[in-house]
Amino acid sequence: MNTPFCYPFRKKIRYAFVSIALLAVHVSMFGQATPGKDIEATVHLEQTNAPIHPFMYGMFTELLHNMFENGIWAEILSDRKFFYAVDNSETLEPRNTRRHQLRWRPVGAASGVTMDKDNVYVGKQSPKITLNGVPNGIQQKGLWLRQGKGYEGRIVLSGDPQVKVTVSLVWGTKANERESIVIDRLSKDYKKFPFHFYPKGDTNEGYIEITGEGTGSFYIGAVSLMPDDNLHGFRKDIVEILKSVGATIYRWPGGNFLANYDWRHGIGDIDRRPPRYDYAWFTVESNDVGTDEFLTLCDLIDTEPYLVVNSGLGDAYSAAQWVEYVNGDKDTPMGMWRSANGHPEPYQVKYWGIGNEMYGEWQIGYMSSWHYTLKHNFFAEEMRAKDPNIKLIASGATIYETGTTARHHRKPLQMKLPIEYLSQDDWTGMLLTNSLENIDYMAEHIYTYFNGYFDQEKQDWVAVRDTLVDLVRRTPNRIKGMIESMEEYQKRIPAVREKPTPFWVDEWVAGEGRGLKTTIGVAAALHEFMRHADLIMMGAYTGFNGLYRYNDVDAVISTNGLLFKLFLEHHGTRMVNLTGNSPQRELTGTIGVDIPKEISGSPTYPLDVLATVNEDKTKLTVSIVNPTYTEQKIKLHYKGGSIGKEATLYSLAPTIVTDDNSPEQPNKVQVEVSRSKVKQEVEVPPHSILLYEYDLTNK
Ligand code: AHR
Repeated sequence: MNTPFCYPFRKKIRYAFVSIALLAVHVSMFGQATPGKDIEATVHLEQTNAPIHPFMYGMFTELLHNMFENGIWAEILSDRKFFYAVDNSETLEPRNTRRHQLRWRPVGAASGVTMDKDNVYVGKQSPKITLNGVPNGIQQKGLWLRQGKGYEGRIVLSGDPQVKVTVSLVWGTKANERESIVIDRLSKDYKKFPFHFYPKGDTNEGYIEITGEGTGSFYIGAVSLMPDDNLHGFRKDIVEILKSVGATIYRWPGGNFLANYDWRHGIGDIDRRPPRYDYAWFTVESNDVGTDEFLTLCDLIDTEPYLVVNSGLGDAYSAAQWVEYVNGDKDTPMGMWRSANGHPEPYQVKYWGIGNEMYGEWQIGYMSSWHYTLKHNFFAEEMRAKDPNIKLIASGATIYETGTTARHHRKPLQMKLPIEYLSQDDWTGMLLTNSLENIDYMAEHIYTYFNGYFDQEKQDWVAVRDTLVDLVRRTPNRIKGMIESMEEYQKRIPAVREKPTPFWVDEWVAGEGRGLKTTIGVAAALHEFMRHADLIMMGAYTGFNGLYRYNDVDAVISTNGLLFKLFLEHHGTRMVNLTGNSPQRELTGTIGVDIPKEISGSPTYPLDVLATVNEDKTKLTVSIVNPTYTEQKIKLHYKGGSIGKEATLYSLAPTIVTDDNSPEQPNKVQVEVSRSKVKQEVEVPPHSILLYEYDLTNK
């Protein structure tokens, strides 16, 4: 029988075998078994906390790696505006770290393809094809094509009028496994020619070929090819997943990328936007996804946009112009530009960040914290002058953030940890002291250091092999440390007591590894965020592409996607106080760097439990995270109200901790739903997340 407190028997047997095996590994690897004691918790229904802001379930996005290009953006060609030379070289110069980077190669005589710097359509060069009576041109191989799908595209060409250009999409080796169009109306001015292909077979080795015949030459300005079911250029399957998950706010365009981004390169005719080298990630940004595209995506998935201006190499004037482009009336100079680009109505974007991780030496445009507080103020004043209704987020970093990232970026350490509050290295302290009137929310990034801790005496990080339960504790500990920092700022800076400045955690990660191993960490972190809803307004998980798994043609929801959807659909809007008999395990580390003064989490070790109610207190939700390889039991008591006799259980409990969905196995992990009688003792499967929904029978 499938009751909320008894997960299916079939699964139990499977769990038993898998758990015994994993427990054996666990005991031998870590020298300890997960403690099994009677865990009890009481939910105090009358004790509720501050409202949980919907933005707690936000997403970080960046023009980085394959989040957009070869990700949610439906373009299937790489380097479609020819940043790189079309040649037979092995490596790209400058290097390109983007995954799935396909190459343009010459077809026919390689000497017939040169990169022309005079008759350039976009960027710094365009391929020129010189013909001597034999067909010559270029091709890009490695396209995933599917029968039954249409592919729409366009090519921008100029050339001698006698040249005949053939554009072919090829899905096999036989003569009939290709579809072509011939273009013979070239002129010296570049012109766009549309095409539409319908492959009659499936391949992962398809290609596009552009060749010319005759004598003379032709130039290729840009090419594009997308499945024709794209939604304004975005992949329909991924958009549908994101919409179904329902994350509430999306941050864009970065990230480290931001510090070398010029928003003006990302507007207007998409084929004329220059591809630019991205010195943050050593890749090329096509600028195909710009402001209008990102804001269209937000509409498609029904989420709040959050834009961040470049305060690295960027300047206050340009940032203010961007605010005007997005929010200005249609007869302001920038509003006119937006209107000309097809969007007469202002977008009314309310949330604007200034800068990204500006405290880090890795950041392009890094400067001292004192100078940065001046810069922040210049930006804020100019941006607010364009739109006084916007809310501003400062690029802060508590002593925890700077201390933790110091591990990755500063070897040997340049500073003594923990950083002193309100010192030059305390960026949040500096911003709160010098820029408070120009800040609505304070950004913090949480990139937890797993499998290690900071030793204050040695002034160095010490590697350890975290058990799953310790690994999962690290991000909630980091969140708790950040909260304790704000309490310190409130003590030390009187103005902060007068003007609460909630955290805006616009990048965070949790867990480690694949599948549910990460998701369990994410769930425990979300618990901790919600526990501190009074001081945290927003969280943006790094990144939205973790909500799905995909290849070039299919996409499915991931375990992380399932978790966010579950919490978004079923958790309430206020945390309910919960007491317990089993405090979380203290980890070794340093207060002010990687551990808080008071341990995070619920007193239900090794489980992490969170209870919430909805606004009218008719529904109670309890989620339980089990970050161990064994089944755990917990007794739940309720005070200050009564719950109904039946509950609904949502269970995310795959057999193997690293299980995830994939296009090949789309339903490997699912949320199982059941309804049955409430029992006091709950059995929590190994490495699982359970969520119970109860009716509250009185308020
Ligand atoms: O992995 C994302 C990167 O991590 C972001 O670009 C940056 O802000 C952070 O350090």
